[in-house]
Amino acid sequence: MTKTITLGQFIIERQADFPYAKGELSRLLRDIGIAAKIVNREVNKAGLMDILGQAGSTNIQGESQQKLDVYADQQFIAALKSGGECCIVASEENEEIIRLDSDISKNAKYIVAIDPLDGSSNIDVNVPVGTIFSIYRRRTASGPATLHDVLQKGTEQVAAGYIIYGSSTMLVYTTGKGVNGFTLDPSIGEFCLSHPNLKIPETGTLYSINEGNYVHFPQGVKDYIKYCQVEDAATRRPYASRYIGSMVADIHRNLIKGGIFIYPVTSSAPNGKLRLVYECNPMAFIIEQAGGKATNGSSRILDLDVYELHQRAPIFIGSKAMVSVAEQFMQNTY
Ligand code: AHG
Ligand code: MN
Ligand code: MN
Ligand code: MN
Repeated sequence: MTKTITLGQFIIERQADFPYAKGELSRLLRDIGIAAKIVNREVNKAGLMDILGQAGSTNIQGESQQKLDVYADQQFIAALKSGGECCIVASEENEEIIRLDSDISKNAKYIVAIDPLDGSSNIDVNVPVGTIFSIYRRRTASGPATLHDVLQKGTEQVAAGYIIYGSSTMLVYTTGKGVNGFTLDPSIGEFCLSHPNLKIPETGTLYSINEGNYVHFPQGVKDYIKYCQVEDAATRRPYASRYIGSMVADIHRNLIKGGIFIYPVTSSAPNGKLRLVYECNPMAFIIEQAGGKATNGSSRILDLDVYELHQRAPIFIGSKAMVSVAEQFMQNTY
């Protein structure tokens, strides 16, 4: 029987990795874990609660907000507010940054960017959804933090992680020293270490892309999809197509099994659909820390300039060898 290590115990044990931190990051991760358990409780019984369906509002993305989008957003903001370790929350569900300016929060040194509920289109049909978070240290030393503190390159992230509310609920995160996965044990209400030192396979046989947009894809993407489908025993093709419509679930599966996830530009999404600050950058940090690769088809995601809170970016992310081949098709050098 292996020893049970809870998320809290793990964070404290790893405290030594951060001589400069005096426990604030640990407490911030704990606050996120608490909100994740609350959201998980609602996701797990969504069908029994008045929490399915649309909230009747539209977010800055022009998406009709699902009740669970709004609920998850509120829970994570509340947990971060009460925890006091975060001075600004940047959320998919809020057009502007949310400044937490209570006496304990206004001088806090961390910024949290969050996609409170990823894969909203899957909520009512019981398909896995998730939460994605990204943590930065503020750039200004004190006083009211501003958007300037939020718009930082992905390389500046202090930590990033996701929760996947699936057949089991997992929290996967990195602080720049590898990736570790924790599974929620409902009998004790704790996230317990279940996937230590996660590494993505160097290559794989799964490709994830919404082929419904095929006619609108750049030629390089069309050529790569054809490449995935051609018989070639040496490279274990044809690959299998797996696309859930929840970024977290698609990327989590590929992290475990090996694979590539692509959301390229399309005619209706000239900069791609996924948001750089709270979807692409955190997932890129995690996958790179697990030994994978994440680019926009030519440039490293984490190096992209961040100039707008809800900025979008094309993304090719997953097993290093697969992303490299896809990039060659994008650059027409394959
Ligand atoms: P969100 O629910 O946070 O708005 O994100 C949805 C995203 C992402 O989770 C998923 O990979 C993608 O939208 C699916 O988009 P399509 O339905 O256009 O394929
Ligand atoms: Mn959305
Ligand atoms: Mn999302
Ligand atoms: Mn979302």
